[in-house]
Amino acid sequence: MTDGAAAVERCEILAACTDEPGRITRPFASDAMRRAHEHVAGWMHQAGMTVTRDNIGNLRARYEGAGPETLLLGSHLDSVRDAGKYDGPLGVVVAIAAVQRLHDANRRLPFGLEVLAFADEEGLRFGSTYLGSRALAGRLDEEELQRRDADGLTMAEAIRRFGGDPTRIAGDRWSGARPLGYVEVHIEQGPVLEGLGLPVGAVNAIAGQDRFELTFTGEAGHAGTVPMKLRRDALVAGAEFVGAAFHYAASHEGLVATVGRLMVQPGAANVIPGEVTMSLDVRHAADGEREAAGASLLDLARHIGERWNVRVSASPTSSRAAVRCSPRLVALWRKAIGEDAVELASGAGHDGVYMSEITDVGMLFVRCKGGISHNPAEAVDVADVQVAVDVLSRFIELL
Ligand code: GLV
Ligand code: MN
Ligand code: MN
Repeated sequence: MTDGAAAVERCEILAACTDEPGRITRPFASDAMRRAHEHVAGWMHQAGMTVTRDNIGNLRARYEGAGPETLLLGSHLDSVRDAGKYDGPLGVVVAIAAVQRLHDANRRLPFGLEVLAFADEEGLRFGSTYLGSRALAGRLDEEELQRRDADGLTMAEAIRRFGGDPTRIAGDRWSGARPLGYVEVHIEQGPVLEGLGLPVGAVNAIAGQDRFELTFTGEAGHAGTVPMKLRRDALVAGAEFVGAAFHYAASHEGLVATVGRLMVQPGAANVIPGEVTMSLDVRHAADGEREAAGASLLDLARHIGERWNVRVSASPTSSRAAVRCSPRLVALWRKAIGEDAVELASGAGHDGVYMSEITDVGMLFVRCKGGISHNPAEAVDVADVQVAVDVLSRFIELL
């Protein structure tokens, strides 16, 4: 079996680690994640690495080098709800494959390699993104630990149940010398490479993103007795905002805005919706445009609320500026790719956003079918994954 085929097979094995039978849902600190860790830690051991798990729940595996310096490699093991097989896991298994090659050849590099399998990048369980890389970068505030999941469990308690100590997360931050870099292989999640007919490309930037939680508060009431003109229906206002946000983004070049989660209270067929809570995700490659759009969209929500006599409140849940990949690492990726090298920007967020606070960041994108991602139809070609392992191995040699 080629390294590419073995990597894809490992993604299949991880896809079976899910909290929802029949679809892939692997949240932070879940039973599914525990099972994924057993597999991944085993593969890390096989590749000659020493493996530890930190308190937030990142697997961290080291392949010693001749000297003390370190190149960090990795991606995340958590998923969105009803996810594909490759967003995250592919980067972890490709990194392990590159280390396995060195181990099989009984080779040591002048520097160590540390493979990071991050605990949470998507933010599915607690609505707060990048928990794994934030902990490593020392950027996870203590108050975050009081966030609650849909069952009311705090993040601190979820961490404890998973075997970590939430009071010791700060001690897990990267404390060694500045690493040589953090590099991540990831599916593109967009159509550019497919359009160019190329298996891989070097990433030059990661777009910024803002997320908000909006609450529309009206008044619950009887669906059969309250006359239409007296209603304060929170969902009517909320639904109007969902459509308005779509049209606002569609009419602003480069802007994307998404309402992906909506909760209707009390949520019964014969009760007028009294309260609607929704997420709003806003992205643009230019930070100024993104910030302006976020402010305009919140204004729009308030105006819509006023028209329906519904109160609107909004709070930011996360905000990150765009991050430029290190020109030095981009150049190295280009060299490792060879003649066909292209550069592209990422509209999706990645752990490199927080890793950029402690080191240079570089990413390699792998073509995916139809640009489809955050969807069970996510697909990659084995041959492309083989190219990714080869390019990553060359990148490490060049470094
Ligand atoms: C992570 O997948 C993101 O939302 O960009
Ligand atoms: Mn994702
Ligand atoms: Mn991802």
